[in-house]
Amino acid sequence: MALYAIGDLHLSLSVNKSMEVFGAAWENYVERIQEGLSVLRPDDTLVLDGDTSWGMTMGQAEADFRFLDAFPGRKLLVKGNHDYWWGTVSKMRRFFDEKGIRTLGFIHNNCAFYGDYALCGTRGWFFEEDAKPHNEKMLNREKLRLEASLKAAGGRPILCFLHYPPLYAGYECPDILRLLEQYKVETCCYGHLHGHAIRRRVEGVRNGTAFSLISADYLGFAPVKLCD
Ligand SMILES: [Fe+2]
Ligand SMILES: [Fe+2]
Repeated sequence: MALYAIGDLHLSLSVNKSMEVFGAAWENYVERIQEGLSVLRPDDTLVLDGDTSWGMTMGQAEADFRFLDAFPGRKLLVKGNHDYWWGTVSKMRRFFDEKGIRTLGFIHNNCAFYGDYALCGTRGWFFEEDAKPHNEKMLNREKLRLEASLKAAGGRPILCFLHYPPLYAGYECPDILRLLEQYKVETCCYGHLHGHAIRRRVEGVRNGTAFSLISADYLGFAPVKLCD
């Protein structure tokens, strides 16, 4: 039994938006993901930390869901900024039920459990968002989602998955960092950073939380093992 995580698979098996246009780092990325996920066993859990599919609707993302469902083990999805197909959890669960997709679930206003750990998370907040209107409202919504997820842990040790990095060279999101500290989050994984932006990642322990970047291109398309 093992817990793995990876973000930013950016699958596009039924929409024509291959990441290979982003250069050598993304060449044959679907095959590399296939190989990376081949470690999964039926009692494993894989957290997918956002930007999973380019599909605009669940229908357009279905081929990507089926690709993931074909691997053994439970997969838990966190929302990324490109997951336009994302809807309410009840609607997404109904879609999976109707399509016979059995191994995919969500971390969204809730948490999941892995051994003694609570797996929490949400999309988070990033400085790119500051340029958009209604940013205050959206940040508040993300704070509420994160706190709902952290509360659901019920005092268990927490591994948290945010799509957006709460810390970045030259940027931090104090509201999100405060919650991580308040709930004594052990580890915070994040994605979203690709290509040149990877250089600006912040990793290591800050205020008791260990931060690490898990975007797929950074990990070489193989999920990181977080615990047995
Ligand atoms: Fe991404
Ligand atoms: Fe992203």
